[in-house]
Amino acid sequence: MDGLSRRRMLLVSGALGAFGTLSAASPARARSLWTWAPSGSVAGEGAGLDPEWVWDEEADRLVAAVIDRGDVPRANAGLREWTRNDQPLPGGLPADLRDFMERARRLPSWADRAKLETAARFNETRGLYLNLLNGVGGGMLSTAIPREARAVYYSEGGADMEDRVAKTSLLGFAVGDLNAYRPDGDVVVQAVKTRLVHAAVRHLLPRSPGWSRTSGGQTIPISQADMMVTWHSLPTYTMRKLLAWKVPLTPAESAAYLHLWQVTAHLLGVRDEYIPATWDDAEEQSRQVLDPVLAPTREGVELTDILLRQLAEQTSPGGIDRPLVNALARYLVGDQVADWDGIPREPFWERAIATAWPKLVAFREKLIPLPLVPPLAWTIDEAVRQYILFYLTKGRGTHIEIPATNRPG
Ligand code: HEM
Repeated sequence: MDGLSRRRMLLVSGALGAFGTLSAASPARARSLWTWAPSGSVAGEGAGLDPEWVWDEEADRLVAAVIDRGDVPRANAGLREWTRNDQPLPGGLPADLRDFMERARRLPSWADRAKLETAARFNETRGLYLNLLNGVGGGMLSTAIPREARAVYYSEGGADMEDRVAKTSLLGFAVGDLNAYRPDGDVVVQAVKTRLVHAAVRHLLPRSPGWSRTSGGQTIPISQADMMVTWHSLPTYTMRKLLAWKVPLTPAESAAYLHLWQVTAHLLGVRDEYIPATWDDAEEQSRQVLDPVLAPTREGVELTDILLRQLAEQTSPGGIDRPLVNALARYLVGDQVADWDGIPREPFWERAIATAWPKLVAFREKLIPLPLVPPLAWTIDEAVRQYILFYLTKGRGTHIEIPATNRPG
């Protein structure tokens, strides 16, 4: 497998992981009424405004000004030099942007270092599940989130999915890193850069005829509600699966994993009043914002197919083939979303995975001895490992940068 096609697979999988699919004409599904109470948030209080109508005011105004005055190249040159959490902001950044980033990079007052350390250890011990769920699982879920698809498709990055997925993986990798929030980590860097990218997209996309035609009436993309939809397709979904797989988690691990993503949401510009305080609050919010918007789209089906084909191609030397990949994806997201994504049925592998995966998890968690693991399980295990290996290496050499235009054409 040559390096380029291997990279391509990773890129597509990552894009699907965080953003979704190239949906240009998805059905507008009714959003449910916002009733989630700010008392369930990390802020504990708030105005209770529907986040559908809230964006990221200060960042949005600032980045719009940077774009309109032609300062994107200077801003991006500065952003490239900023790579570590503890690093001073580069002097070459435009002054107003630098001032904003100086504030935006600060951890919230409620951030808890000890919890973040526990989360880092949790990422290390459960990295296999977390990467699989956030990457392949979250990817297959997000092909069924129409708004993400449209934003991605019509934005500048939509024209080059490989590059886009590589950039996306930078944040995913930073969050899962042992050093994530330590001085030598880079999650603060990648999250603040991403916040700026989203602000740019809010300014640029409304000028895209293609996006405006298909936005289902939304006039500015990436609302706070949209942010939380994607957020739930990552940690909330992942925690649901870990529990369903009976991975033994201590209360401290579970709380730490939530905390990791709470702090990350804050750095991405989500208001504290929308960030769930507990897993119960997260579940309740997810039921309100994520579950009702999932829907099939023609583009979602197409992109799912590209992702799964490339995943199979990349890993076939190690024994994974398309039917196994199909069945694995279906296992991760369940029949409803798999059907919406057009994932073909694979009776042999579906049965094999349903039998073997729980045994693999139990063996990994030292709950059962080796002889109880069916031999076929190791083929599945190897496939998962290969996917994760690719995932962890794909972002190298890329940078998250502020776009200056929309997708051409
Ligand atoms: C860019 C992550 C929510 C649409 C990015 C990037 C990352 C990221 C890491 C930088 C990669 C790049 O520049 O290509 C996340 C996370 C989210 C989230 C972690 C929520 C927790 C959303 C939502 C939408 C969205 C809800 C749309 C509805 C986009 C678009 C870009 C982008 C259009 C820029 C593409 C371009 O450069 O042209 N996001 N995102 N994101 N995101 Fe998000």
